[in-house]
Amino acid sequence: MGCAISGLAAKSEFAERNTEDAAAHPSEDQIQMIKDSWKVIRDDIAKVGIIMFVRLFETHPECKDVFFLFRDVEDLERLRTSRELRAHGLRVMSFIEKSVARLDQLERLEALALELGKSHYHYNAPPKYYSYVGAEFICAVQPILKEQWTAELEEAWKTMFQYVTSLMKQGYQEESTRQRHLAVSPKERPDKRNTAL
Ligand code: HEM
Repeated sequence: MGCAISGLAAKSEFAERNTEDAAAHPSEDQIQMIKDSWKVIRDDIAKVGIIMFVRLFETHPECKDVFFLFRDVEDLERLRTSRELRAHGLRVMSFIEKSVARLDQLERLEALALELGKSHYHYNAPPKYYSYVGAEFICAVQPILKEQWTAELEEAWKTMFQYVTSLMKQGYQEESTRQRHLAVSPKERPDKRNTAL
């Protein structure tokens, strides 16, 4: 499970950001690098999805508790052959594929990531965990790209994940605020049936 980047997740580059400061989007050069590398990575998306999540559960076991299907699985090796984890990994990888495709239309990517953050509020998956995923993705794809992997490419992917996860966090917080308002509004708003007379 060793990977040069793994220690970074909880530290500086992948550390949790304040949602107030929106992360920068990748530059044009970085977008090109991401797109080129994606052409190689996409042949292995099912494998990358599984490796990424098994690593996430190994390095941050608290994330496993969020998943109803996996929270009671003790032996993480069993997950490598799990159809459910494969399906989940593929859903996440499809989102990454869509994000890569939308790097040229940032307003569309923004809307997509905000919505995903909102749905994660309902999955009870809090923002403090999102930054771990980019680090595990990078560790999972490095061996696939072999000598094509460079420090610049790593920086490009980090930028993309920080950008997407900062939007997800924003979406999560918007939804959390909306739900709080929904919860208090019946008390604040007089019941129309009672006040109509
Ligand atoms: C970069 C970070 C992440 C991305 C891009 C991502 C993406 C996705 C996607 C695409 C789905 C499928 C459903 C949907 O579209 O709403 C999903 C579902 C889900 N995610 Fe995430 N996710 C991320 C991080 C996390 C983390 C860190 C956790 C938990 C610690 C988590 C927990 C869940 C759960 C519980 C579901 C619902 C179950 C399922 O669809 O299998 N996610 N996520």
